[in-house]
Amino acid sequence: MCGIIGYIGYQNAADILLAGLSNLEYRGYDSAGISVMTNGCIQTIKSKGRLKCLADKIESYGKPQGACGIGHTRWATHGEPSDINSHPHYTDNVSIVHNGIIENYLELRKELSEKGYTFTTQTDTESVAKLLDCLYNGDPVQTLASAIQKIDGSYALGVLFKDHPDTIYAIRKDSPLLIALGENENFIASDMPAVLQYTKRYILLEQNEIAVVKQSSVSVFTSEGVPVIKEVHTANWDISKAQKDGFDTFMLKEIFEQPRALHDTISPRIKTGIPTFENDGIPADYFSKFNRIKIVACGTAMHAGMIGKNIIEQLARIPVEVDLASEFRYRNPILYPDDLVIVISQSGETADSLAALRLAKSQGIATLGVVNVTGSSISRETDHCIYTYAGPEIAVASTKAYSVQMAVMYLLAIHLAFIKQTVTAVQAKNLTSSLVTAAQLTRQMLTLDEAMEERAKDYVNAHSLFFIGRGLDYCMSLEGSLKLKEISYIHCEAYAAGELKHGTISLITELTPVVALATQEALIAKMISNIKEVHARGGSVFMLAKDGMPVDTSCCDHVATIPPVEDLFTPILTVIPLQLLAYHTSLLKGCDVDKPRNLAKSVTVE
Ligand code: G6P
Repeated sequence: MCGIIGYIGYQNAADILLAGLSNLEYRGYDSAGISVMTNGCIQTIKSKGRLKCLADKIESYGKPQGACGIGHTRWATHGEPSDINSHPHYTDNVSIVHNGIIENYLELRKELSEKGYTFTTQTDTESVAKLLDCLYNGDPVQTLASAIQKIDGSYALGVLFKDHPDTIYAIRKDSPLLIALGENENFIASDMPAVLQYTKRYILLEQNEIAVVKQSSVSVFTSEGVPVIKEVHTANWDISKAQKDGFDTFMLKEIFEQPRALHDTISPRIKTGIPTFENDGIPADYFSKFNRIKIVACGTAMHAGMIGKNIIEQLARIPVEVDLASEFRYRNPILYPDDLVIVISQSGETADSLAALRLAKSQGIATLGVVNVTGSSISRETDHCIYTYAGPEIAVASTKAYSVQMAVMYLLAIHLAFIKQTVTAVQAKNLTSSLVTAAQLTRQMLTLDEAMEERAKDYVNAHSLFFIGRGLDYCMSLEGSLKLKEISYIHCEAYAAGELKHGTISLITELTPVVALATQEALIAKMISNIKEVHARGGSVFMLAKDGMPVDTSCCDHVATIPPVEDLFTPILTVIPLQLLAYHTSLLKGCDVDKPRNLAKSVTVE
């Protein structure tokens, strides 16, 4: 949510900032802007709208000539998307880019107004630019340290001081920011994909550390001004993984990457045929002490948690609750010493998930992260972290990250069942082998691409759609419906098929298409009855079933099938046609598939 980039080196900063911002645009695309040091002045150009609008403006104004600058792509929180509210925010002496929310900005404004400052934007960030200007005493590190004492909220800040034309300053608290180390050039960035084409080496900033970034050196200080020695990390993502690779969109590329991502996530964790997490630094008997599990997450990651609940309860007989992080953190949840709190997050930076994690930790509860981005806040703050190996996910709508989150849920469920002895070693091996087979069959699911494009034609003009299913298919209905609505802007509802008749069926007419997920053999008779109920009311039905199941297809208009895997493993396959359906519907409607309106990929504010 909001992307930050900064460059100091020997190349034209504006070019590097624009290229970096194009890789960060998925963090927000309401507006963009840059500030570049040119001949002792800070030159700022910013524009409402997509990055292209900023690039055009830079072209028409003339490209700033300088090798030190900061840039920003915005997801608006305080103040509408407009030129004036765009970042950087600046005074004569200082220019800043910000990701996060300054919670006491009204107090700061009042205090600074009394000192003669005037405010021209509706943003929280402008108060920090003016605060830094007011506090500036010639020493940027001291100035930032004083500002930290006065600011409440979350922030990653990139700062230029006019008097220090060869330096970028950076601080962070509760919002991500890293320093990437190049050859005779250095960068600040919200995440690594922004700078992967220049370097893979980076350092992470801890809460309220202050970074002083120059062309050939980087120094880091605590907020008390004490120098800190930082560990240098190397990203294991390469640039090709953050590019479209011949696909028209990131989303399609990421859908097609799922067989590889599943293999990379599952195979290193199988030893003698059974899942273990020893390579993740988790002791063999670690999970035996837990009697209850809470899974906390947001959005698609929460849907992966729902799959986790179903399969962990079925296999390991451990009660699991799934909570939206934004609800969990404020409802004073009951936590016991033998609970394990699992936080699932692609980015590892989602503000609500991070807050939920901190809440559990503050009560002394054991925590486990399931995270895709190495070195992210959640991965660093959980007791243990199981990384998913999706590689960088750029499209705002999550696809491959969801599949690998599910894969970790399966690995965990089988592992827990084995150590809790609810399954024998032989059963655990059979379950693991079924998981591997399901993951391999995802390749076959990708051949449904054309069929889903056909189905999408039925939905482009729909005003509303229903997804229905039972058991695991209900969890998949929620994800299928979210995917379709977030990128095609068609209203969709997911309903437990058995619940439909308790009210919602009144919304079904011949104008309401229904996607019915019917992959669960154990529930098929009940599911077919529910499908008949909607078909009888005129709703056209597309059924996703399983090969070889005795299905009465007279109650549906179209059918597609997944290969015959056990009921427990169907979600790994079902999700792919649902993603393709959403993708093609969005494309046919002419929507921006990778950057749906109003959304951002990494939500680092509450
Ligand atoms: C945003 C994204 C979703 C994502 C959710 C949780 O809303 O648009 O795709 O599922 O955040 O993100 P996380 O990084 O914690 O998985």
